[in-house]
Amino acid sequence: MFSNEDSANDLIDVLLRAKLNMENNNSPLLPGQELTDDHLLMTVADIFGAGVETTTTVLKWIVLYLLHYPEVQQKIQEELDQTLGFNRYPKLDDRQHLPYLDATISETLRIRPVAPLLIPHEALTDASIGKYDIPKGAHVVINLWSIHHDEKEWDKPMEFNPGRFLDKDGKRVAFPSPSYFPFGAGVRVCLGEVLAKMELFLFMAWTLQRFTLSVPQGHTLPEPEGKFGVVLQVPKFKVKATLREAWKA
Ligand code: HEM
Repeated sequence: MFSNEDSANDLIDVLLRAKLNMENNNSPLLPGQELTDDHLLMTVADIFGAGVETTTTVLKWIVLYLLHYPEVQQKIQEELDQTLGFNRYPKLDDRQHLPYLDATISETLRIRPVAPLLIPHEALTDASIGKYDIPKGAHVVINLWSIHHDEKEWDKPMEFNPGRFLDKDGKRVAFPSPSYFPFGAGVRVCLGEVLAKMELFLFMAWTLQRFTLSVPQGHTLPEPEGKFGVVLQVPKFKVKATLREAWKA
């Protein structure tokens, strides 16, 4: 079942190993506690369902905003050139040294949150938020869109400005405002937040190190207006990736 008996390379390896361990374990499992094929299938489906559409949608939003703001793209490329040069690929450790790229990703997640109403929640106990009582069992829908565009919290919230995630010295500010949670919050916070941030960083760093993105001739760029669906959908657009001069040799 495993390519190498001792290695577990991914989630499926780990799940299969856990299933085998349970089956080989002499202590009998209580009914309902077994790890069945259905559990494995649903876990993998959940992870793909929650992880693929979200991450690809954010990547499309980032690219669309870079096409609208070529000066932002140029600044990211200058940062990449100065920090990495042209002799090696970006790696995860580089993220802390590429604050402008990181800030651009954060700003895209602010201005176009993938889940503008998060996922519907239900109050497990009687609770309150400010002066409002939330009775047990009430359905709670969080308006993340309005939180991310709140004029009391964000200066010119409708403007795309990665600089708001940087301090005056250009260093990354983790949370310029508490009104920011693109991955939700609390016990049901996104399970894949850390992985998603790594994926977004690596994809954008690799792409922009080598290519410059532009609108192909004859095509118009749509306004960055989203369509509400399972995720906030990006309007269709075309992009041209041109190999940068430094890589042509
Ligand atoms: C940029 C990409 C992503 C964004 C913006 C995002 C955002 C979110 C949001 C807003 C929620 C709901 C949180 C809430 O209602 O409080 C959520 C839940 C979830 N996400 Fe993500 N997500 C992303 C990528 C991923 C990835 C890569 C995975 C898995 C590898 C993943 C797995 C999940 C799961 C399993 C839940 C449900 C957690 C629960 O209900 O306990 N997500 N995500």
